[in-house]
Amino acid sequence: MEKIIVANHKMNMTLQDTQEYIKVLKNASFKPIICPTSIYAKIFIDSGFETALQNVYFENKGAYTGEISPWQAKSLGVKYVIIGHSERREIFKEDNKQINKKIKKALENELKVILCIGETLEQRANYQTVLSKQITEGLKDIEDRIIIAYEPIWAIGTGIIPTNEEITETTKFIKSLFSYDVDVLYGGSVNKNNIEALKEVNVVSGYLIGGASIYAEELIKIGEVVS
Ligand code: PGA
Repeated sequence: MEKIIVANHKMNMTLQDTQEYIKVLKNASFKPIICPTSIYAKIFIDSGFETALQNVYFENKGAYTGEISPWQAKSLGVKYVIIGHSERREIFKEDNKQINKKIKKALENELKVILCIGETLEQRANYQTVLSKQITEGLKDIEDRIIIAYEPIWAIGTGIIPTNEEITETTKFIKSLFSYDVDVLYGGSVNKNNIEALKEVNVVSGYLIGGASIYAEELIKIGEVVS
């Protein structure tokens, strides 16, 4: 099965960067899902990329200054949305209840949901409890299929990654909590130097890549190794 490659640009690119990036990435032999800063989503869609938003609100429309709704995203041609990224949870204080509402609204609008879960270093010994809670509460009353991105918080942007054995064990644990064969992506410091080793982890369906994904050449290298 072809691996899913998700490029999370976070808040790192200008319009000019975006235009240069697309020129290079157009030649890639695989199809990444691009999560640009929302104001650039249409540019990626018009250039033929599968596009995701990095976040959405949990209402379709109304007086919510600064927010973007799943309904609006759908009308633009957005196909996926990341929900519950650890930066949203930590910096913007999103809790599982809000995340649950966001997922429901996104699914109602036929967006594919990538739910991010992960434990801090302090929670590492209890990761099963932490991840179960994020899944149970985040997916309360939701039957539709979603994609999980397992991103240990201590591995995001740090250059430190879990061992292949740890990723395998955690992915198997996550899968055991679902009634269907859920796709689990690994995320956290994936780059062109560690992807060869990471690809040995067969249980993961793909990768959510942050820092390394804003360089088109590096993203292409990563994609070529796994596809
Ligand atoms: P990173 O980010 O690849 O820069 O660690 C991953 C993420 O936060 O999605």
